[in-house]
Amino acid sequence: MSKLIEAKHLRRVYGNDDVQTVALDDVSLEIDRGEFVAIMGPSGSGKSTLLHILAMLDKQTSGSYKFDGKAVDAYPEDAIAKVRNKKAGFVFQAFNLLPRTTVLDNVELPLLYSDTPQHQWKDLALRAIKMVHLEHRLEHESNQLSGGEKQRVAIARALVNDPEIIFADEPTGNLDTKASHELMEIIKELNEEGRTIIVITHEKEIADYAGRIIRLRDGKLEEDRITKK
Ligand SMILES: Nc1ncnc2c1ncn2[C@@H]1O[C@H](COP(=O)(O)OP(=O)(O)O)[C@@H](O)[C@H]1O
Ligand SMILES: [Mg+2]
Repeated sequence: MSKLIEAKHLRRVYGNDDVQTVALDDVSLEIDRGEFVAIMGPSGSGKSTLLHILAMLDKQTSGSYKFDGKAVDAYPEDAIAKVRNKKAGFVFQAFNLLPRTTVLDNVELPLLYSDTPQHQWKDLALRAIKMVHLEHRLEHESNQLSGGEKQRVAIARALVNDPEIIFADEPTGNLDTKASHELMEIIKELNEEGRTIIVITHEKEIADYAGRIIRLRDGKLEEDRITKK
């Protein structure tokens, strides 16, 4: 397997000279293509900060980060945005769907910002919607869906550009147990199809879907363990 993520000595400090928070402190890790990694740790331990840096949504204060073999710092913001749009999909705890907008239109949304020709949008959106098993909900508006269905739409939207990695920050945080497991089964299928997955969770049962668990505490990497071969 080849490395998709190579992070060395990542440090992220928030704030100004008066008040500083060290959110991430000397975190080094490598993630291969096709891995399914869970990031765990108490609230405030730096999980979202780490995910945002790995997803190229934020930059480290010091340390180095290579995504897909390329040093992210070395690129201007528009080049990073291109890599991010093409290769990465994001899912957050809040579903962030457009209200009173159909499932199909919500999933097509990222294509507006891509260079994909418009005549391909519908097919690409349909393909993504099938991956999350929501073909029967195409014309439903987002506010007519259950929480679990909303999060599946959010995943379809993250998949529409056919990313090689999905970053998810507590994607089951607003879901009940049943919907959480349905969502994780879908994420597991995406991983079995070859996509790399990084998911933040508080819950052991959710982390058990992953093959590797990274645990943070006070911004430091406390544990990095393969749990499944
Ligand atoms: N934008 C920010 N400005 C200042 N401090 C922040 C910011 N984002 C996060 N922090 C602080 O950094 C630490 C890590 O936060 P975060 O990465 O969100 O942790 P987690 O996701 O594990 O709950 C916390 O102390 C948090 O208060
Ligand atoms: Mg967080």
